[in-house]
Amino acid sequence: MRKYIIAGNWKMNKTVSESIALAKGIVDAVKGIKKTEVVIAPTYLAAAKVADVVKGTNVKLAIQDIHWQDQGAYTGKVSVDMVKEIGAEYIIIGHSEQRQYFHETEETVNLKVKKTLAANIKPIICIGETLPQREANELKTVLSTQITGAFKDVSSADAEKCVLAYEPVWAIGTGKVATDEQAEEAHAYIRSVIKDLYGAKIADEMRIQYGGSMKPGNAAGLLSQNDIDGGLIGGAALKADSFFAIIDAAEKR
Ligand code: PGA
Repeated sequence: MRKYIIAGNWKMNKTVSESIALAKGIVDAVKGIKKTEVVIAPTYLAAAKVADVVKGTNVKLAIQDIHWQDQGAYTGKVSVDMVKEIGAEYIIIGHSEQRQYFHETEETVNLKVKKTLAANIKPIICIGETLPQREANELKTVLSTQITGAFKDVSSADAEKCVLAYEPVWAIGTGKVATDEQAEEAHAYIRSVIKDLYGAKIADEMRIQYGGSMKPGNAAGLLSQNDIDGGLIGGAALKADSFFAIIDAAEKR
C-alpha cells in the first residue's frame, strides 16, 4: 500500500514571519494525521526557521530546488549540504516554473536528482505537459522523455526513494484542474514507464502526486484514482485550513 503524500509548495510566497506562522498552523492542524505524509516547502529564506517549527512533528520539510554543485560561485543558489544541515527530507526538482522561466532541462533535472539522492534526501520530481503539447497528442512522449531524462543513471535502489509529481502545466495556478480521468490516465502511463525502467515492484511502490489547482473541493475525487498517491499543492497550501482539508481527504481514503 502506497502512503499518500501531500506536499505544499509555497513557491515565492510568505515572508519569514508569515512562514513561521503558517508552519505552526499546519503543525497544529495535522496532529491527529496518521496515515498521510505531510510535507511543506517554504522559500529558501524561511526554510531554516520553518525547520525549527516542524522538528519532532509529523510535518516534514522540503526545499524548492537546489544547485547540483557542492559549493562555489553560483549566485542565488543553495547546495544539497545546506539543505541537509537543516534537516530537509525532500527536494522538489524540475518544477515546470523552473523549466519555463529558469532554463531547467532534462540534464539539469538529472544532475539535481542524482545530487539529492547521493545526500540521502528524497527528490520530488515534477513532470507534465503544456497545453500545446497535450493538444498535439504529445502527452506520452513528453512524459516518457521527462521520466527517462530524470532517471538517467539512477539505480533501482535510488529510484525507490523518489516521488514523482504529475503536474499538467495548463492546470498550475490556473484554476483549470485535470479531470479525475485525465489525471488517472497520465498517472497510469507514468507508472507504466517506471515499470519499463525498473520493473513492477518499484513501479507499484512509487508514489505519484498530482499537482495543478488541487483544492479541498476536488482533492477527494483525484485521490480516489488508482494511481494518484497524493498532491503537490500550490495556491491551496498557503492557508492552513485549505491545506488541511486536502490532507484530511487523503487521510479519509
Ligand atoms: P497550484 O500549483 O496548486 O497553485 O496549481 C501547484 C504546483 O505548481 O505545484
